[in-house]
Order: sequence, then C-alpha cells, then structure tokens
Amino acid sequence: MADLEQACEWLAQATSVAVLTGAGISAESGIPTFRGADGLWKQYKAEELATPEAFAKDPKLVWEWYNWRRGIIAKAAPNPAHKALVQLEIRKPAFTLITQNVDGLHDLAGSGKILRIHGDIWRLRCTVCGANWPNRKTPLPKIPPHCACGGLARPGVVWFGEPLPDGMMKEAEHAAAAAQVFLVVGTSANVYPAASLVPFAKQAGAKVIEINPDETQMSSLVDCVLRGPAGELLPKLV
Ligand code: APR
Repeated sequence: MADLEQACEWLAQATSVAVLTGAGISAESGIPTFRGADGLWKQYKAEELATPEAFAKDPKLVWEWYNWRRGIIAKAAPNPAHKALVQLEIRKPAFTLITQNVDGLHDLAGSGKILRIHGDIWRLRCTVCGANWPNRKTPLPKIPPHCACGGLARPGVVWFGEPLPDGMMKEAEHAAAAAQVFLVVGTSANVYPAASLVPFAKQAGAKVIEINPDETQMSSLVDCVLRGPAGELLPKLV
C-alpha cells in the first residue's frame, strides 16, 4: 500500500489524534525555519539571540531581532497545512495540537486546542513582576519595551536552556499517550523536550506519521514517512 494511502487509513480509523508541529508548517506562509539551508540559525547565532544570557547581556539586540521576526510574521497568513489541521480537529473526538511555533498561525487558522510549548511571540512578559500580556504592535514603538511596573519586558517565548511553561510537557505527553495517530509535521526534531514526544507517542502505541520534505532525527523511528511540503500533503491526508 502506498504510504499516503496507509496514513489516510490510520487517520480515518483514529478517534484520538495528536499533532506536533514545527517551523516547517509555516514555511509555505513565508516564515523562515531555523535549521534548513536558509534557516535562521545559519545566519544568526542562537546563543546571542535566544538565551536568557543573551537577553541579560544585550536586551536591545535581542528585541531588535524579535521585532524583525514579528514584522515578517505579521505579514504572513495561515497556509493549507494550518487549515487542514483545523478540519481534522473538527472531525476527531479527541484532538490536541502541540506546536513549537511561536508565530500564532495555528490560532489565526482557527485551531482550538493548542499547546504552545515554546510560548508566543505576540505576548510579552515582565522580568520583574512576571506580568504577561498580549502585544501585536509591529514594529514596537520603543525597544526594549517595558511593563507598567517599570520592569524590563521580554518576549513571551521559551529560550534555549529554559524550562517549558508549567505543566505544558505533562499535558503534551498526556495527549501523545492517548493518541492512536501522532502526526509530526515540519520539525527537524532536534530540540528537546519537544522531540521526545515522538518516541513517547510511539511507545504508547500510536501510529506515528511524519510529514516533511527532508529526513529528520525521527524518520527512522516513525511508522510512515510522507515526503513533501505540509501545505500539499496535509490537505490530501485530511
Ligand atoms: N513542509 C513541511 N516541513 C518543512 C517544509 C514544508 N513546506 N519546509 C521545511 N520543512 C521542514 C524542514 O525539512 C525541517 O525538518 O521543517 C523543519 C524545520 O526544522 P527547524 O528549522 O529545526 O524547526 P523546528 O523543528 O520547529 O525547531 C525547533 O528550535 O530554535 C528553535 O525554538 C525554536 O521552536 C523552534 C525549535
């Protein structure tokens, strides 16, 4: 049986589905990924822009980079892959979307149950009082931004070396364990603990389907590989 047919059959039979998405699902919306040939981490150093140490050293530099990314994301719209996941959620009694993306395109597409395990680029958090608020201004009028309490604000995202938001991983594991089908879409599966959800789901008995134009860290472990862009393959699968 062809891979797509096999994947369609598993998905059609499943009542409980979980999905892990990464930067690749937003690539066709015009948002750069991190590790591909044109990936952000080819041009920029993660340790200078996406760590708590980098922010402590130069908050303005970090914010300039986030301001630039917010500008790119603000112009982007959900693509057929984001929309296909909304349709899938409508059809399945149990459905959880776990995303590493901070771009908010799943929200814009209309997905309901989203675990944003790496946070949200459209939220700011005060480094002093911990307040957390939405902010969609692009560009930000003043860099770095501050909280009403006067404290320095940071992007509401998870940086390298930081823990995931409280309880997030437990909830993601719960969804992965309950899933009959686990879709892994557009992630290189290099970053942990997110990547650990793939073997976790597999061990718990899910059929794991990868959608990605390229081979990843998890390709040898999954039950079915669909090679190609998510914007073409996900609508076909769903
Ligand atoms: N459809 C599906 N997948 C695609 C597409 C596409 N059209 N285009 C590229 N890809 C794939 C690439 O082949 C690659 O495997 O998307 C993946 C993107 O991988 P990364 O850039 O490593 O992104 P991601 O896995 O989400 O990174 C994880 O690292 O620095 C960070 O915090 C950031 O959440 C991010 C984390």
